[in-house]
Amino acid sequence: MPEKKLYIETVGCQMNMLDSELVVASLRQRGYQIVKSAKEADTVLFNTCSVRQHAEDKIYSALGRLKHAKTHNPDKIIGVMGCMAQKDQELIFRRAPYVDLIVGPGQLHQVPDLIDEIQSGGGQKIEVSLDRAAGTRTDVAQSFESYDPLRDPAMRPTPYQAFVRIMIGCDKFCTYCIVPKVRGPEQSRDPEHIMSESRRLADEGCREITLLGQTVNSYRFRHESGVTTRLSDLLAQLHEIEGIDRIKFVTNFPKDMTPDLLSAVRDLPKVCQYLHVPAQSGSNDVLKRMKRGYTVEEYREMMAAIGETLPNAAVTSDFIVGFCGETKEDFQQTVDLVQECRFKNSFIFKYSTRPGTRGAELFEDDVPEETKRRRNNELLAIQNAISEEDNQPFLGQRVEILVEGPSKAAQKTDEGQTQLQLTGRTMCDRIVVFEGNRRQVGQILPVDIYDANSFTLFGQIVTQHVGTEVYSLA
Ligand code: SAH
Ligand code: SF4
Ligand code: F3S
Repeated sequence: MPEKKLYIETVGCQMNMLDSELVVASLRQRGYQIVKSAKEADTVLFNTCSVRQHAEDKIYSALGRLKHAKTHNPDKIIGVMGCMAQKDQELIFRRAPYVDLIVGPGQLHQVPDLIDEIQSGGGQKIEVSLDRAAGTRTDVAQSFESYDPLRDPAMRPTPYQAFVRIMIGCDKFCTYCIVPKVRGPEQSRDPEHIMSESRRLADEGCREITLLGQTVNSYRFRHESGVTTRLSDLLAQLHEIEGIDRIKFVTNFPKDMTPDLLSAVRDLPKVCQYLHVPAQSGSNDVLKRMKRGYTVEEYREMMAAIGETLPNAAVTSDFIVGFCGETKEDFQQTVDLVQECRFKNSFIFKYSTRPGTRGAELFEDDVPEETKRRRNNELLAIQNAISEEDNQPFLGQRVEILVEGPSKAAQKTDEGQTQLQLTGRTMCDRIVVFEGNRRQVGQILPVDIYDANSFTLFGQIVTQHVGTEVYSLA
């Protein structure tokens, strides 16, 4: 079989990174090899995101740049997959008529067959059914079974870390958010399937799994017997898998942060004490318009419950600034919340109106771009100062890290040296940069911290490894 060359570009969240891995795994089975540029590829795929306008603009300009390549080589196949494929559907063909393939996130298992059909002269293909009528267990099993098990460690940042999907879709319908529309209704995956996929990953040498769901802590699987498996139950089961040393889960929904889950995180040593629980805003008026389903007082109570059960946990958040009708006072309340909660870090986004959401229908996008930018910068500066302060107590501490690979700087100048700058992560998701040996990638090692800024701890590997030493689980 002649080798076929595939170039894939991925934007968006961890769900998309996982989807790209699975699509590549299925295409490798058909003889595809990954290449580094669209130019040298026979097939070019974009896995897209619609969460903000900017993410879509990036893909449309990348498509624009390919127009010429397609004129030169009409056999080159260009495909658009994922959330923007689902949202824009045929509009993509209208804006870029040379696109061959449009596939929504629910149909990605069909990509290899669709490409074959196009190559056999089948013309343009579009598969964007979200199967909204789905929701029965059979449908969940089908969509996962036919598609999830094939993995491709080479597509991951390291083979020692992997995402495992435990849910698809979202039912929360926050008014600003396009995700429920493009990813369909929330469905939890059978724990048996999650276990067998995780066991297989462990057998292949993977040491850390990150469970994925848009609202991962809403996970609930009802068995035919009537028994329900919650996320806390699932964590306890996964904890038993030999070879898996670390378990993370993202993203949490504040209202579903239940006591059983917090206790599971406390009692299961392999589960990372790292909780990403986006608040989005500190103002009740804004939260109400966002339809987040909680008040800022309830969010504070949740933070207090985390603090009580998990005093050393790292909590991170997302915020949207400049949502419709956000006043100076509303924004100040967000600042107050950030200052009070002292998140390990926060992702801060300027509101981007999304056609097709309730927010776009109901409210005017009335905060000027300049104000959005100012609020974004202000909140970011406050958060960064907190992150830097919170990293200072690590100076002089010994932490345990999973070594991930060459640092960004080392990747740029990488000439195959064995001794180089590496990065790793602590149990609480703190990034540590240190001088190490390439062979240490994938190991869990003790490091002494000697410097810290907002984003990074700097350390030195502990060479005298005394077997019985106890390290702080930072
Ligand atoms: N399911 C996750 C995150 C989904 S999208 C959750 O519920 O938290 C990731 C982040 O993008 C969101 O937390 C939100 O802060 C941001 N976001 C979503 N829609 C947005 C929009 N229209 N404009 C700006 N930011 C948005
Ligand atoms: Fe979007 Fe809200 Fe669902 Fe998160 S919980 S994916 S923000 S609708
Ligand atoms: Fe984007 Fe889709 Fe994720 S819209 S954030 S890639 S679920």
